[in-house]
Amino acid sequence: MRIVQMSDIHTGTPLFRPELLEAAIEETNALAPDLVAVAGDLTTEGYRWEFEEAKRYLDRLECENVVVIMGNHDAKNVGYRHFEDFFGPRSLSMTLSVPEGEAKVVAIDSSEPDLAEGEIGREHYPWIDSELRGWDRGPKILMVHHHILAVPGTGRDRNNLRDSEDVMALLRELKVDMVLSGHRHVPYVWSISGVRIIHSGTVSSSRVRGVMPPSYNVIEFDEEKVEVTLRQPGGEEETLARFSRRAVTTSEIYPDFERFVRYGEATV
Ligand SMILES: [Fe+2]
Ligand SMILES: [Fe+2]
Repeated sequence: MRIVQMSDIHTGTPLFRPELLEAAIEETNALAPDLVAVAGDLTTEGYRWEFEEAKRYLDRLECENVVVIMGNHDAKNVGYRHFEDFFGPRSLSMTLSVPEGEAKVVAIDSSEPDLAEGEIGREHYPWIDSELRGWDRGPKILMVHHHILAVPGTGRDRNNLRDSEDVMALLRELKVDMVLSGHRHVPYVWSISGVRIIHSGTVSSSRVRGVMPPSYNVIEFDEEKVEVTLRQPGGEEETLARFSRRAVTTSEIYPDFERFVRYGEATV
């Protein structure tokens, strides 16, 4: 399957660069991906008009499967209400037909009103578990705005996913193939215990403090490999990471998952 992952659009600031977003959308349409994953921070201050502006652009995507999640910037005051008005549910699970079978995508809102840091929260673990455990029809993908693992070149880590340790154990337990995140504005990939954690940079803003230019990711996932390409909207591209489809790991962890993380039955 082919995924276009973009995040940190950040309308509503002079640092927003519409020409980059337009180029990224045009290129995405030409790539005809199976999924467009928009990993949060659509806005800057979370004003309704900023959501409206982001929506106007994203409506130009021709892909049938566009999944959009909240970022911390979208969560100012009652940003969740504006988000729902324009983009629908803040967390969702969906399946989509892909050449390898059927992919499962779980997208989750990790934001908290007016906080930069985020959390998935223990109350959501049973739901993630029930959606992903044992799924063997195709790729298993989680979308969450906040980064689970530190991204180099982004300063000291203060606002990662606050429950990243338990979430990481959960992802390994559920054999999740990849996590799509944004937030740090720097593209970076980790592969750890079979889970590929893929961060996209900011697609359309100059909110770049590091040396990586505004960019988005194109992910090719097939029977043999997972390949992540970094693309600058309207510009160059380069390979960001390449993995074999089956994770290469020799690690075996013996104490049961339940010795570390425990939760009840799904109630929703
Ligand atoms: Fe951002
Ligand atoms: Fe963010």
